[in-house]
Amino acid sequence: MSEVSRPSITEPRTAVVIPAAGRGVRLGPGAPKALRALSGTPMLVHAVRAMAASRFVSLVVVVAPPDGAGEVKSLLDAHALPERTDFVVVPGGQTRQESVRLGLEALPPEYDIVLVHDAARPLVPVDTVDAVIEAVREGAVAVVPALPLADTVKEVEPAAEAGEPEPVLATPERARLRAVQTPQGFERATLVRAHETVTDDVTDDAGMVERLGERVVVVPGHEEAFKVTRPLDLVLAEAVLARRRLNDGF
Ligand code: CTP
Ligand code: MG
Repeated sequence: MSEVSRPSITEPRTAVVIPAAGRGVRLGPGAPKALRALSGTPMLVHAVRAMAASRFVSLVVVVAPPDGAGEVKSLLDAHALPERTDFVVVPGGQTRQESVRLGLEALPPEYDIVLVHDAARPLVPVDTVDAVIEAVREGAVAVVPALPLADTVKEVEPAAEAGEPEPVLATPERARLRAVQTPQGFERATLVRAHETVTDDVTDDAGMVERLGERVVVVPGHEEAFKVTRPLDLVLAEAVLARRRLNDGF
């Protein structure tokens, strides 16, 4: 095949940073949350596989608990990933924000699109991952999967002591609110700039990009992309996996 017949535009390359360095305090005592088993397999392995399921993803950067990078590396070596997907493991930091920044610093130069995905959302379907990547490939600078809320939300004046009644300040119109999930997708340069310049404590990466004044868009999320936070979430995650096994059997 001659040189001239090659496509002139190279495909953008996509990597995923998976912050997995948290303790999982709200889940209760035990191993770091990302290493706890769901249906016999560590949550982190489910999360890595969920990202590697996308044909666009060629690198996964796992941000491990600060003292657990070696253990996480062996774990991923032991669990098969698709041929096309490489992985790198780096130690994380004290906050999620710091862990994501350490993951971004480990990213080789050739990746133009970066997703950030919580290890604590192990069951996100590949269609959601692809929808986020496609929106970035089509030109969005920052993309967030999100769902409408089931509950009405109140803004309150937080009580000084737990359990005290809290005055309600406002009730935002529920139809305009969304609960955001991950993976969140970004033009790499914009996310890196956000992590270099935004120092306030922001709980999601898209929020940091908003602080830069950049446009962030929402695509439909998925109920199976829920975050494993409290013990009841483990029950739900096991139930989702059991339902998948049942469906796969037919
Ligand atoms: N995370 C991280 N580094 C930290 C804190 C959190 O990489 N210092 C990651 C977690 O491992 C998780 C994701 O950020 O995959 C979302 O955080 P969260 O659900 O709050 O997990 P934890 O911080 O581990 O849980 P908790 O807040 O209950 O301790
Ligand atoms: Mg946390």
